[in-house]
Amino acid sequence: MKEKIRALCKEKNAVIFAHYYTRPEIQEIADFIGDSLALAQQATRVHADILVMCGVHFMGETMKILCPDKKVLIPDMNAGCSLADSCKAEDLKQFIEQHKINSLSCGEGRGEVLVVSYVNTSADVKALTDVVVTSSNAKKIVDQLPKDAKIIFGPDHNLGSYINSVTGRHMLLWNGACHVHSRFSLEALLQLKAENPGVEVLAHPECKAPILAQSDVIGSTKALLEHTIQSSAKRFIIATESGILFEMQRACPDKEFIPVPPEVTEGVGCSCNECEYMRMNTLEKVYACLKNESPEMIVPKETAEKALSSIQRMLEMS
Ligand code: 13P
Ligand code: SF4
Repeated sequence: MKEKIRALCKEKNAVIFAHYYTRPEIQEIADFIGDSLALAQQATRVHADILVMCGVHFMGETMKILCPDKKVLIPDMNAGCSLADSCKAEDLKQFIEQHKINSLSCGEGRGEVLVVSYVNTSADVKALTDVVVTSSNAKKIVDQLPKDAKIIFGPDHNLGSYINSVTGRHMLLWNGACHVHSRFSLEALLQLKAENPGVEVLAHPECKAPILAQSDVIGSTKALLEHTIQSSAKRFIIATESGILFEMQRACPDKEFIPVPPEVTEGVGCSCNECEYMRMNTLEKVYACLKNESPEMIVPKETAEKALSSIQRMLEMS
């Protein structure tokens, strides 16, 4: 299957992008592996007719918005994102309007607000946004915004709280979360730390504040991966989606990576720390989408144009 996929890529001048959370066999056949920011940046640089985005729906949308003249395929259109789904454009629009009215009635300036959205959002939400951020560049971008600006940040409440804490801002936060990152068990993490003294704890900023408070390094998937390569430590506890362990182990075969398990509520969800949406990308679906050139990502022109300016602003500011 891997050979057949690579042959189709050659025949059709296609390149495959994969997020770090996809299955190991998908990362093995990809031309580019990266975090959300790196994948978006890379998409604008490649010369190809077809881009295959092995990740989740919003990543395919971002790619299509950045590369409107290319055919963007995504192996499974149902690969969504619980975080992106926690913020519907209609609801955000109402929230922004309400905040503008509140600011005006408090006599605060002209009722203007800046909307900063995490890349894990739909194109419709990006179209309502002033600047998009990823976990790699959120601090850097928020630091560049005017000091007196009123900012709405969404949809990830954990990331927003973390960025408020490291920038000293008081951004108004949307109450969304990722079902994988918000479930890591503090009790299990404390036990792992007790059992492994001196081990470094690495966490993604989508985790809850008590998990972040126990972590030595907080960063995007790429930043965490780079830290494991540079660090002299030999053992790491990892609080993010477990797909990243594949790349960490490949880059550092002599180091040990211990994943933090999620809280288990009887009868609710599973006890692994995998994003089931990312796992919907399989070799069979990659092959089928390349062969049939479907499903193809389409973003309505008007939405794409509005969303593009907030994504481009992010690329400029990062
Ligand atoms: P990164 O920006 O670190 O790639 O994270 C994306 C994501 O979906 C995290 O859950
Ligand atoms: Fe979305 Fe969470 Fe999956 Fe990342 S891990 S794609 S935030 S559901």
